[in-house]
Amino acid sequence: MKFFVDTANLDQIREAQDLGVLDGVTTNPSLMAKEGITGAKNILQHYVDICNIVDGDVSAEVIATDYEGMVKEGKELAALHDQIVVKLPMIKDGIKAAKHFNDIGIKTNVTLIFSAGQALLAAKAGATYVSPFLGRLDDVSTDGLSLIAEIRQIYDNYGFETQILAASIRHTMHIIDCAKIGADVITSPLSSINGLLKHPLTDIGLEKFLADYKKGN
Ligand code: G3P
Repeated sequence: MKFFVDTANLDQIREAQDLGVLDGVTTNPSLMAKEGITGAKNILQHYVDICNIVDGDVSAEVIATDYEGMVKEGKELAALHDQIVVKLPMIKDGIKAAKHFNDIGIKTNVTLIFSAGQALLAAKAGATYVSPFLGRLDDVSTDGLSLIAEIRQIYDNYGFETQILAASIRHTMHIIDCAKIGADVITSPLSSINGLLKHPLTDIGLEKFLADYKKGN
């Protein structure tokens, strides 16, 4: 299972990379704006900065919503760095663009997936990743984890190689449940990844081991 961090914050990306378990980064226009990164030139430079910190795939999202615009913008993004994955919205032209990029060997991440049908279509188009947003489904009283399980079953039935990139992760249990279901990748805020480290019995146990060591020395 791959771990991506879902942020445009360079300090958090460095911290995740330093932990040694990071496989990639996802960003989106909202995460860029949160870091105060605005304007095409600054955004493109920020993608390069992220690629220079991490070893794995870095999703960079197109802003265009028409096929020609997405293809042009996607090619510009892909040319920035060989780790860039072109992130496309789950709309008709996005599917067409995913097919085009698959044909010319550019990786894609089809985002804003909220149904199994959308994930099936993206896999048919040859997307490298699909991003179902499980937290946002939970927010509207729909079981996000059930969607991850449905997509897993469909992809396994037909041997689709598209990777399920579980997004909109809100807490550590989302990560654990995605691992049980068999999501290929989770993209998560750093806080949820760090949350996996914690257990009070670990802290109590370590304190006791150290105290007992000191007694004999
Ligand atoms: O990167 C997309 C996704 O992870 C967004 O998460 O928390 O805004 O629903 P969230």
